[in-house]
Amino acid sequence: MQLLTTIATGVLAASLVSAKPAENPGTSSQQIADCLGKKDVPVYWPNSPNFTELAEPFNLRLSYTPYVIVLPETIQHVQDAVLCAAECGIKVQAKSGGHSYASFSSGGKDGSMMIDLQPMQGIELDPATNIVKVGGGVRLGNLAQGVWDQGKRGISHGTCPGVGIGGHFTHGGYGHTSRNWGLALDHIVALDVVLADGSVVHASEVENFKLYWAMRGAAESFGVVCNFYLRTQEAPASVTYFSFQWGDALFKDKQAFTDVFMHIQDFSTNASVVDNRISYGIYLDGIAAYNLGGTFFGSPEEFNSTIMPELLRSIPAPGKIIVQAYEWIPYLKLMSDRDAIEEPLTGYDEHDTFFAKSITVPESEGLARSTLDAFYDYISTPAPTEYFVIINLYGGPGSAINMKDTDFAAYADRDSLWVFQNYGHGDTIREQGSIDFVNGINEAIIEAQPDTHFGAYLNYVDPSYDAETAHELYYGEALYAKLDELKAKYDPKHIFWNPQSIGN
Ligand SMILES: Cc1cc2nc3c(=O)[nH]c(=O)nc-3n(C[C@H](O)[C@H](O)[C@H](O)COP(=O)(O)OP(=O)(O)OC[C@H]3O[C@@H](n4cnc5c(N)ncnc54)[C@H](O)[C@@H]3O)c2cc1C
Ligand SMILES: *[C@@H]1O[C@H](CO)[C@@H](O)[C@H](O)[C@H]1NC(C)=O
Ligand SMILES: *[C@@H]1O[C@H](CO)[C@@H](O)[C@H](O)[C@H]1NC(C)=O
Ligand SMILES: *[C@@H]1O[C@H](CO)[C@@H](O)[C@H](O)[C@H]1NC(C)=O
Repeated sequence: MQLLTTIATGVLAASLVSAKPAENPGTSSQQIADCLGKKDVPVYWPNSPNFTELAEPFNLRLSYTPYVIVLPETIQHVQDAVLCAAECGIKVQAKSGGHSYASFSSGGKDGSMMIDLQPMQGIELDPATNIVKVGGGVRLGNLAQGVWDQGKRGISHGTCPGVGIGGHFTHGGYGHTSRNWGLALDHIVALDVVLADGSVVHASEVENFKLYWAMRGAAESFGVVCNFYLRTQEAPASVTYFSFQWGDALFKDKQAFTDVFMHIQDFSTNASVVDNRISYGIYLDGIAAYNLGGTFFGSPEEFNSTIMPELLRSIPAPGKIIVQAYEWIPYLKLMSDRDAIEEPLTGYDEHDTFFAKSITVPESEGLARSTLDAFYDYISTPAPTEYFVIINLYGGPGSAINMKDTDFAAYADRDSLWVFQNYGHGDTIREQGSIDFVNGINEAIIEAQPDTHFGAYLNYVDPSYDAETAHELYYGEALYAKLDELKAKYDPKHIFWNPQSIGN
């Protein structure tokens, strides 16, 4: 590995003066460099080798230039870095996998301290408790492979192996195991957290409960998680993957489009066919393809005899049907669309250029026919960008996601039936017209059901909201008020900051 410790020398300090301290008027570059240098914290300055690639977020549409990037090898390094940032008035954000839709791990603005947890890659499964201790920089693919290799265990989380534990587990975390095992967040039993005052604390159900509660929903505003302690599940011998593919057939006829979704919605709330063992989402690739795909914790025979007939009853037959059993690791590879789920420990270099947002649909209301008609009308207009919509089932009979409430964690999305992700990608997304189109999908749905209180999903963090709107959509008033109070206690000076952080 590179020489990590770049202590400010006279030469470096000279070039730092031009590294735009404008955002932090009180800060002298020399001051922060001296502070970090004295404590031997491994740092990268804008003119250091590797700075550019370390600063690069997953979403290249929103690239920010950190004031300094810290690559801590010990918890002490994180503590020292936070104290130096506090002393010099620089804002801090941790980076785990860097997949924030808003690039908040790059600070969400120029001139922050990024604490990149890349060197913290430990994965240790305790065979006695089946609890795994995981470093804050571990990516999901390595986590899944690690717990499998060490004990044939599994954990609920999303499908993309490059996503990091740090953002994903502290803001929900949905995969097609979540209706059975809960969200990724629900697996957290304890955390080692560095706080704004530079102290490190262990937070769990029985120690520092309020912090444990707040971190699970708003970690970016309260501290840096250096270690996660997660419960794990026995990985099933096999699961059934299913996919129903209608191609573009359903986009040619509004009534068919709406009828199919209404039937799927009725099916999804029908307790005689749906329980916690099944999960799925609908994927609309623009108006080119309409697929319903997911996972069943049971055999293809059982799926075919008890579930499929009701799912397809009364709707046009899909052009293609796949129902197939997969062993655990092959299943994870299938979900990630990869030959292997392991990711490199340094030098990760995958990116997209996109704008995305979400809608959470309360289970008590679901989507009305007229809303689906409005959705159809909107997506039938020509789109200026390539986009997709994924509508995942969170609720329905037996869902482990919705069995918890806001006393459990600072996570509000416990009563959704559906969660939409509206994602526009490609170079044209830099143009405002493309962003407006994606915003319009949300508006079409929300305006069609004015009496419904729709929210938004924290892991699809939407950079277009002001802080107040974001807080209302992600947390709601009551939950946010509790977080705001805890923020004043744990981080009164707002050291941990992004444009939508708590108290902003
Ligand atoms: C390709 C892709 C696929 C995805 N698939 C899914 C999916 O299947 N299901 C799903 O639910 N979501 C999915 N997501 C969304 C994903 O869950 C979020 O973007 C998630 O927050 C990313 O986590 P990260 O650690 O990579 O992000 P980062 O950008 O590193 O961090 C995100 C936020 O969390 C904070 N943070 C990170 N680590 C820590 C830490 N250790 N301590 C304190 N704060 C921390 C950061 O400061 C930042 O504010 C996907 C995203 C992408 C880009
Ligand atoms: C289940 O149904 C699908 C689609 O008809 C079929 O391809 C598959 O072979 C069936 N599996 C079993 C075990 O019956
Ligand atoms: C629920 O599923 C059962 C079993 O297929 C079916 O008989 C029943 O009509 C369904 N109920 C509704 C309301 O669709
Ligand atoms: C720095 O860059 C080199 C060359 O691309 C790479 O091999 C190395 O892993 C990088 N180091 C870090 C800490 O990312």
